[in-house]
Amino acid sequence: MIKTLQIGSIPIDPPFLMAPMAGFTNRAYRDTVRALGGCGLPALEMISARGFVSQKERVGEESELDRLRGVAEEPRPLAAQIWDNDPGKLAMVGAKLAYEYQVSVVDINFGCPAHDVAGKAQSGSFLLRDPERVGRLVERVVKACHPTPVTAKIRLGIAPSQNPKAESQSKLCHDEIIRDQNNIDDHTFIYGNCAGEIAVAVEQAGAAALTVHGRYAKQMFSGTADWDAIAAVKSNLNKIPLIGNGDIDSPGKAVDFLKRYPVDGIMIGRAAIGRPWLFRQASELLLTESERSSEWISTIPIERERTILFQFCERMIQQFGDERGMVMMRKFACRYGSGRRGAREFRRAIGTVHSQKAFQKLVDETFQE
Ligand SMILES: Cc1cc2nc3c(=O)[nH]c(=O)nc-3n(C[C@H](O)[C@H](O)[C@H](O)COP(=O)(O)O)c2cc1C
Repeated sequence: MIKTLQIGSIPIDPPFLMAPMAGFTNRAYRDTVRALGGCGLPALEMISARGFVSQKERVGEESELDRLRGVAEEPRPLAAQIWDNDPGKLAMVGAKLAYEYQVSVVDINFGCPAHDVAGKAQSGSFLLRDPERVGRLVERVVKACHPTPVTAKIRLGIAPSQNPKAESQSKLCHDEIIRDQNNIDDHTFIYGNCAGEIAVAVEQAGAAALTVHGRYAKQMFSGTADWDAIAAVKSNLNKIPLIGNGDIDSPGKAVDFLKRYPVDGIMIGRAAIGRPWLFRQASELLLTESERSSEWISTIPIERERTILFQFCERMIQQFGDERGMVMMRKFACRYGSGRRGAREFRRAIGTVHSQKAFQKLVDETFQE
C-alpha cells in the first residue's frame, strides 16, 4: 500500500521531500528538480529570522531577501525554513512567509549544528537540549502562521548518550549534563537521544509534521544515519506525520525505507545535488514497484544527464548572472557524472571555467559514456 502524506491541509505527493540545504536549494535547483518531477515538497535554503529582520546586506553572501526573490510567484507547494532562538523574531518572520510570500509550509530548524547557528547564535541544534523551549518556540510560530502548517526539523539529539540504557529509552539524560572542555564553543552538551521528548513537545505545540535527521548534532555528517532511532520517534507522535531523513542515496533505498520504517515521508538532501532526478526515479519506483518498468529507474542516459546539467546552468545564470552563476555552478557540476568516464577530469577542470560556452565545451569533451 502506498503511504500518503499530508502536512496540515497540504497533500505531499509523492512523499519524497527536498531537504533544505544552505548554498544549494536555490531557485535554479528547485526548478530543475521540479522540471524532472517526483519531489512532493521543494524547500528553500534556511532563512535566519534575525538576518531577515535586520535585512543586513552581507558582503559576498546572499541576504535573506535575495533568497526570497521570486518566491511569491514560484510554483507550489513550497516549504520555507527559518532559524533563530527568539520567539518574537521567529513568529514575525514565519508570519511574513505565510501571509506575504504565501509559502505552503513554514519549517523551523532545530537541527543545524554549524558553529554560526548552534554555537554563536544558540539556535538550531543548540535548542535540542530543552524540549520545553522548543515547544514554546513552535507554539508561537504556529499561532503566528495559522492556517499555514508549521513543521519542525530536528536531529536525534546533541551527542549520543554514554549510557546505553538511557539511549535505548530515547530519553534525555538530565544527569549527564556536562561541560565538554574540548568543545571550542564551550557550551554545554546534553548526551542522549532527546528526539522522543522533542517530538512530544513539537506535536503538543501544534506542529503539522516532524522531520528527523538520524544523526546527533555532534556527529555533523559523520557515521551513518540511524533509521531505527528515527523509527522509534513514531511511538511519541499521536497524529502528525513523521518524515525520515539521512543518507538516502538511491531510488531503491528511498522506496525501501519508506516501506520498511514507520515513516510517512522521506527527505532527500545531498544525493540529489548531483542527481536531481533521484526524486523522479524514487517516485516512479514507488508507483511501478518494478526496477525495469520505467525509463527513469535505471541509470539515465549520458545525453539526458548532459541536457539536465546544461539546463541547470542556464537557470543558475538567469538567477545569479554570468559571473556569479558560473562560479556557483562549479560546486554543483562537480557532483554530476559520478561513475561516468571523464567525470574525474571534468571535476578537475571545472574550476577554470568562466563562461557558459566554455562550460558546455568542457561537458561535451569530458563527460562521456
Ligand atoms: C550543504 C548543506 C547545507 C544544509 N543546510 C541545511 C539547512 O539550511 N537546513 C536544514 O535543516 N538542514 C540543512 N542541511 C541538512 C540537510 O537538510 C539534511 O538533513 C542532511 O544533509 C541529511 O540528509 P542527506 O543525507 O539526505 O543529505 C544541510 C546539509 C548540507 C550538506
